[in-house]
Amino acid sequence: MIPALILIIAYLLGSIPSGLIAGRAFFGIDIREHGSGNLGATNSFRVLGKKAGAFVTAADILKGTAATLIPISLHLQGVVTGIHPLLAGLFAVIGHMFPLFAGFRGGKAVATSAGVLLAYSPLFFLLLATIFVSILLITKYVSVASVSAAVAAFIYAVVHTIYEKDYPFFAVVVALAFFVIYRHRANIVRLRNGTEPKVSSGKSK
Ligand code: G3P
Repeated sequence: MIPALILIIAYLLGSIPSGLIAGRAFFGIDIREHGSGNLGATNSFRVLGKKAGAFVTAADILKGTAATLIPISLHLQGVVTGIHPLLAGLFAVIGHMFPLFAGFRGGKAVATSAGVLLAYSPLFFLLLATIFVSILLITKYVSVASVSAAVAAFIYAVVHTIYEKDYPFFAVVVALAFFVIYRHRANIVRLRNGTEPKVSSGKSK
């Protein structure tokens, strides 16, 4: 399989707008017109309720995992693709942020990036997931948990690279961390204004 085809498939996987699909299928709405306006897991929980939110979270994670596993599984079968698994994962995250199937208005890169790291380095994923959940439990802000995990990922990538010289890992993790932080600009403004919503028990649809 040619490298470009793997990256295109990864981008298309990331472009599947699970939040939009869930909103339209279950409630006939575009979640980008509601809540924070974000096409992501948090806004799906907020607008659509727990069941749809859990579905969108799982689907968004799975997009990153599946895209990253394509080059990994091809490599295991002895197929030399020339594509680093993390690069395929990065293309899935780009698809999630700028989805072909949803007018290029997508999410904030958190769940799909988590799926990429889950496939590539489960221990690193666990570390970041622990940080995410801990910060969420303490602050009750998903955005603070997301940005904190991104900052932790960046610090880990720097330290890891000093010892391991794993430059592809460094480049992709720094890119993912940058995407997450940059896509949370509006959340950071709301946090400073005191208008960022905390998580609540929410709807139980
Ligand atoms: O993962 C996105 C989350 O950190 C913030 O989402 O909808 O509150 O902007 P939202």
